[in-house]
Amino acid sequence: METTQNTLSGSDNAKRAAAARALEMVENGMKVGLGTGSTAAWFVRLLSERIHREGLAIVGVATSSTTVFLAKDLGVPLTSLDEAGTLDLTVDGTDEFDAGLNLIKGGGAALLREKIVAAASNRLVVIADDSKRVAELGTFPLPVEVIRFGVEYTRSAVLDVLSKMDVAGAQVELRKVRDGALVTDEGHYILDLHLGRIGNPSRLSAALNALPGVVETGLFIGMADTVIVGKAEGWCEMHFRDAPMDTSELMRNEDA
Ligand code: 5RP
Repeated sequence: METTQNTLSGSDNAKRAAAARALEMVENGMKVGLGTGSTAAWFVRLLSERIHREGLAIVGVATSSTTVFLAKDLGVPLTSLDEAGTLDLTVDGTDEFDAGLNLIKGGGAALLREKIVAAASNRLVVIADDSKRVAELGTFPLPVEVIRFGVEYTRSAVLDVLSKMDVAGAQVELRKVRDGALVTDEGHYILDLHLGRIGNPSRLSAALNALPGVVETGLFIGMADTVIVGKAEGWCEMHFRDAPMDTSELMRNEDA
């Protein structure tokens, strides 16, 4: 059955509109990275509809076990990243994006696979609603994926790094679920860094990645090629990495 937007909230309409616009970039034969989260889930649902309606032949590479489950449930063909090699396109959500299309990701604890899949893609298209747009990154707590061994040492090393950085706050929390610490798909922990404002995201990213216990951070610097911002009314705003914000193209979504 097709997903309709008639009964959707404004936020879901916006996410759906962004996902529908990203879907227009998918062509027959493509290898497509499938993101994680509620916005990326809209893309997987709409992709599944096109596969079943038009016989669109694509193969997906999922960025999390949650997305594997959803894609399988909806009949979207999947393969592994190793089998696929380079991907044509990845469509993923974000927790924040700034004017330079730098991102904070990992709210859904999938940042490591998301970053690897994005790096293996010719194009990273980010889909979002207006709530994800920020003047400066850092309001959303920055997720950092860390090795479980010695997590308290790594936490104190992260605090030491933060004391030398241009950030507004420096609280570091181990992400928890009901029965204890959250364990990622790759078997690691997540530290959430409450920073308020990140003055120099590239410098912070490099300093955190230099710590032995850190696997990867949720800072995606210079990786997104396009950010599509869906609106509750069903249209989209397009932002391209190499174009200044004020030349963004406004798109009306035909099936919105
Ligand atoms: C998961 C992510 C998600 O893309 C991010 O958290 C956005 O999720 P949502 O679309 O549900 O707001 O990075 O690790």
